Amino acid sequence: MDQQHQLSKTSVALHWIVALFIIGLSIVGLVMSKKEIWFLYPIHKSIGTLIFALILIRVVWRVRQAWPKPIRQYARYEQVLSKIVHWTLITGTVLMPISGMLMSGVGGHGIALFGWELVAEHHSPTQPDQALPYSVFWAGVGESGHEIIAYILIAAIVLHIAGALKHHIMDRDATLRRMLGQDVSEQ
Ligand code: HEM
Ligand code: HEM
Repeated sequence: MDQQHQLSKTSVALHWIVALFIIGLSIVGLVMSKKEIWFLYPIHKSIGTLIFALILIRVVWRVRQAWPKPIRQYARYEQVLSKIVHWTLITGTVLMPISGMLMSGVGGHGIALFGWELVAEHHSPTQPDQALPYSVFWAGVGESGHEIIAYILIAAIVLHIAGALKHHIMDRDATLRRMLGQDVSEQ
């Protein structure tokens, strides 16, 4: 159970594992699509699909535990900003894998977990090297969604890290140390 002076091991572990994968997948996603590094696509898709399971567990855990209570009374603007950023982060982490699977699965490119096929590729009979979308509309929604949500999520992550560093370095409070698993009841 999360407590105001100490977060549970589950909350801490889920936060950092999902955070590292989201940051890693965002960097790989941007690099592979801008530089057209094709061998990274199946790796990005496999890890993104697998991490979706952990993301769902994290969301259920967070809903059951409620948000961690602030360690002290923050300024009103900080409370509002951190609520908006936390909601954007958690919603973005759910929507990124969903939009990615929509783009790849419905787009005819297929989804596989390191070679183990989940959704078959779908090819045009006349141009066998071209993927044929099952639905052009939904594949487009997935593709645009994945890109737009990626930029919103990356902006939220930058704000979030800046906020965590502000608490740690400028305010010198225990917000970051609590997320690192420490008991901060004495501070
Ligand atoms: C779990 C979290 C995920 C994150 C944070 C993430 C992040 C990103 C980012 C930042 C990009 C570059 C922006 C763009 O072109 O859309 C990207 C591209 C891409 N992602 Fe993901 N992704 C995730 C999951 C997935 C999944 C599950 C799939 C498919 C099964 C997928 C398939 C793709 C593909 C195919 C591209 C290249 C799009 C293009 O070339 O235009 N992603 N991803
Ligand atoms: C180096 C990167 C990161 C640092 C230093 C960091 C730090 C923190 C800290 C200190 C808190 C506690 C805030 C509080 O007590 O009010 C927190 C909470 C949170 N962080 Fe991060 N974080 C990082 C990356 C991420 C990423 C990449 C995501 C998601 C995409 C994320 C999502 C969240 C969410 C949703 C919360 C709310 C509490 C929870 O659900 O566990 N964080 N983070």
